[in-house]
Amino acid sequence: MGKEQKPVMLSGIQPSGHLCIGNYIGALKNWVELQDNYDNIFLVVDMHALTVPQVPAELRKRCLSFVAQYIACGIDPAKSTIVMQSHVPQHAELMWVLNSVTYMGELSRMTQFKDKSQNQKNVNIGLFSYPVLMAADILLYQTNLVPVGADQKQHLELARDVAERFNNRYSETFVVPEPYIPKTGARIMSLQEPAKKMSKSDDNLNNILALLDSPEVIVKKIKRAVTDSGSEVRYDESKPGLSNLVSMYSVLSGESFEEIEKRFSGKLYGDFKTDLADLVVEVLRPVQSRYNEIMADKGYLEEVLATGAQDAYTRARKTLSKVYRKIGFVAPKR
Ligand code: TRP
Repeated sequence: MGKEQKPVMLSGIQPSGHLCIGNYIGALKNWVELQDNYDNIFLVVDMHALTVPQVPAELRKRCLSFVAQYIACGIDPAKSTIVMQSHVPQHAELMWVLNSVTYMGELSRMTQFKDKSQNQKNVNIGLFSYPVLMAADILLYQTNLVPVGADQKQHLELARDVAERFNNRYSETFVVPEPYIPKTGARIMSLQEPAKKMSKSDDNLNNILALLDSPEVIVKKIKRAVTDSGSEVRYDESKPGLSNLVSMYSVLSGESFEEIEKRFSGKLYGDFKTDLADLVVEVLRPVQSRYNEIMADKGYLEEVLATGAQDAYTRARKTLSKVYRKIGFVAPKR
């Protein structure tokens, strides 16, 4: 049992591309709203990032920038443990054990693996065992709740299966984690191709609103966003481009679809886009200014990561020792 009696909540984001408004609405905003009610661990999963090509110097910068953006969005290091995955060696160690209770067949069925390995000559093993590392991330901290988007539900299901299988084979060891599907489940779609999710790793930056985009860039991207023919501003599933912008407006303003429809009745798409751009700029302004402050003080970030790693390490070591004992490893003399 942790020093806090609150249930453990854990989530993570892979440091690739640019954190975007989709990550903010789908993940970070919810994490911030939940952080008082749970014993939280938020990871920057740098080890997962290795499964796709990375430029080392850029990866290093991006990892620190992601931590700063977590904090700038409102993750409070005094309330939540912020962890760089590679700072806690038990993630990789537990993964190795879990590899032996995970089946090839299970991993072959993962839709993310199928998508990412398609059209590639050489598929690296990291891409295949990605969900096992994710299971290790979760099970290492005896996590109760995992907020994830729809695209990660299959991976969470695997983590649950692996936990149950281990518990059955070796006796009760892991908490079996539950998914947490946020109430405001708005899934933000690409600005130019609204049939697909807005992705921080999209090569076409016109598809995303990055958290660090300047106001001018935000205005330009929203102006250019694909809308559908018609003139009424309203949420309508047959108009995915417009509806995406309406849901974005709704989540960021707290207004319902009806209120938005009323507000913009008789107005043009262009008017709506101007207001949406203002709204996004206003939401991101304080985030960007906190981000700049944090990045100006390198010592602060290092300290946050050192504290996070220390806390996580203590907890992770406890679980891993238990696992090693259960599976029959000889304990080293200390
Ligand atoms: N696979 C997750 C994603 O791409 C990131 C992730 C890694 C994660 N480890 C995790 C999410 C543990 C939740 C819990 O979004």
